Amino acid sequence: MGAAGYEKWAAEVRALARERDAVILAHNYQDAAIQDVADYVGDSLELSRLAAKAEASTIVFCGVHFMAETAKILSPDKTVLLPSLEAGCSLADTVEAADVERWRLQNPDGLVVSYVNTSAAVKALSDVCCTSANAVDVVESLPEGKKILFLPDFFLGSHVARETGRDIEVWMGECHVHAKITPEALRKKVAEDPTAEVFVHPECGCSTTALDLWSAGDLPKERTRLLSTGAMIRRAREIGPGRALVATEVGILHQLRAANPEATFEAVDGSAVCPFMKMTTQESLIEALRNGIYEIEVEQETAKAARRALEAMIAIGPKSIAVPSGAA
Ligand code: 13P
Ligand code: SF4
Repeated sequence: MGAAGYEKWAAEVRALARERDAVILAHNYQDAAIQDVADYVGDSLELSRLAAKAEASTIVFCGVHFMAETAKILSPDKTVLLPSLEAGCSLADTVEAADVERWRLQNPDGLVVSYVNTSAAVKALSDVCCTSANAVDVVESLPEGKKILFLPDFFLGSHVARETGRDIEVWMGECHVHAKITPEALRKKVAEDPTAEVFVHPECGCSTTALDLWSAGDLPKERTRLLSTGAMIRRAREIGPGRALVATEVGILHQLRAANPEATFEAVDGSAVCPFMKMTTQESLIEALRNGIYEIEVEQETAKAARRALEAMIAIGPKSIAVPSGAA
């Protein structure tokens, strides 16, 4: 679509959003055109917070199903629309409510921390939620001496266990996009560009290696960071005309380049594309706004219990991002 075609489409989106009294929220992994037309673009935590205080009567969530469910749970009186019902999440699919129920029976005094990449039913059985932006803070806020189940992401959970030193059982789930950003790919990119900053999302298969290299002094401490997507954008603004190697879904590059046009951002793995995030298309967004589809509902009792876990997270807030201790 050329510039004129884009402007025509964007004008129609904005007009339909006005008619419907809708706010458009887009995750950092959405296609560039969707990010550019949205009212707000952000990471999971930022979008949860925006959903919780949205004033419009409708939220159109350009993201994946668990994000739209989260918006509905936090804003039960709003209409929440997800442009594609097929936009799921391979990570969220690795754990079911029955798994959490079983663990709770075996560990009656244990606490369950759920990454937001989970279904409403799993959140409803959790003590508190977290995102990649606040996982360490959330676990540190829990009472000492309790066994903790962290789910569902193994790489993020291992990082949190290492950072907090707490007794954590980590669920063996992974995101198929991030897990395949390998240690080898990271090592190769760093060898080719040894002075660049390194931004690694903690869901990545290379995140543990990044920390090992960092601890061994093979990755410069002042230039290596484990960051949520929102924190990557904040850091991008600080690096001047620098370079950064970015290990996460490639949609983030659009926001990074907009945040700092002087700098160069390069993907550690250019094939890291989330098929679910890309299910929001220019056509499906128009259809969502025109026809009020697809409306996301969460059963009331499930929503009430899940809201408790989400609000417990929001109250803790992102005091710090998931940076290795001692990093700048
Ligand atoms: P963020 O919380 O960093 O936005 O990540 C969400 C996600 O789905 C990662 O794959
Ligand atoms: Fe889920 Fe991975 Fe896609 Fe994020 S990138 S929405 S964790 S499948």
